[in-house]
Amino acid sequence: MRIKGNTKVVGLFGYPVNHSLSPLFQNAAFAELGLNFVYLPFLVHPKNLPQAVKAIKALNLVGVNVTVPHKQKIVPYLDEISPEVEKIGAVNTVVNQKGRLVGYNTDGEGFVNSLREKGFNLRGKRILLLGAGGAALSIGFSLLREKVGEIILVNRTYNRAIDLLNRLKKISPNAFLRVIKFEDRNFFPEREDIDLLINATSVGMSSEDPLLINLKGFSSKVFVYDIVYNRATELLGEAKKRNLFHLNGLGMLIHQGALSFELWTGRKAPLDKMREAMDLKGLKD
Ligand SMILES: NC(=O)c1ccc[n+]([C@@H]2O[C@H](COP(=O)([O-])OP(=O)(O)OC[C@H]3O[C@@H](n4cnc5c(N)ncnc54)[C@H](OP(=O)(O)O)[C@@H]3O)[C@@H](O)[C@H]2O)c1
Repeated sequence: MRIKGNTKVVGLFGYPVNHSLSPLFQNAAFAELGLNFVYLPFLVHPKNLPQAVKAIKALNLVGVNVTVPHKQKIVPYLDEISPEVEKIGAVNTVVNQKGRLVGYNTDGEGFVNSLREKGFNLRGKRILLLGAGGAALSIGFSLLREKVGEIILVNRTYNRAIDLLNRLKKISPNAFLRVIKFEDRNFFPEREDIDLLINATSVGMSSEDPLLINLKGFSSKVFVYDIVYNRATELLGEAKKRNLFHLNGLGMLIHQGALSFELWTGRKAPLDKMREAMDLKGLKD
């Protein structure tokens, strides 16, 4: 990559950012298309977020990705937000449109695209969604848009699951949604009919983490999707052992990044190259 006087800059705002894989695959994508762009990580302490957002304009950045802990906090500092951000209240991509900062969220659509790529059609499916944080909300929103049959929500903190249920109900009042208590996750009878089980919690990020849910009792057709991407989780190990279809979070990561890339450059993202950049680091989706 050669930096020139007219190189366009995009970046990542987060705290921390040093483990991010986005610079790796975004820069590989720019190089593949011969685009004069560079993607840089910016360590933005929460107290500096307002100044960092102003710097997008002041330094004429093309845009940024936004990650933990800024996804919600950044919203009031933007000039405009997409209809999706209006509903879910979190941003993962900012585009500097001639001095106006517009916030988008590509996480949920990235999740859906990664499943579509595997030939999984969400329409009418019965889903078990574990987690009630930012990722679960983005995914839940996109599942509703895909007209899934039913979403069963489970979260360690029950009230957060209820909050998520209420937010999703507000978005889609006629959707079939319900909450199951965390203690019942290994026993509820309908688990036999679950088509897609999603881990959208942070359990599995550490090798010390326990197995979040027992896969015994689920049918052999259940698809297990763990959105954690930094390691092979115990849940995916179990799914593999049981010969179930399964996917780790790298697919979602690449697809959400591909959608950000398209917002910044107006070009179709070279998914194969992005994937290849990760493969070279020994990361396989
Ligand atoms: N693949 C991708 O592209 C992608 C994109 C976004 C996020 N992610 C991953 O998704 C995960 C969640 O991210 P997030 O932004 O939604 O985080 P978050 O808002 O902090 O939510 C964390 C969730 O994990 C649950 N949790 C944490 N520790 C737990 C434990 N010991 N037992 C049971 N549940 C536990 C929390 O439950 P409580 O409510 O009870 O605390 C909450 O539901 C992270 O691993 C993140 O890296 C992946």
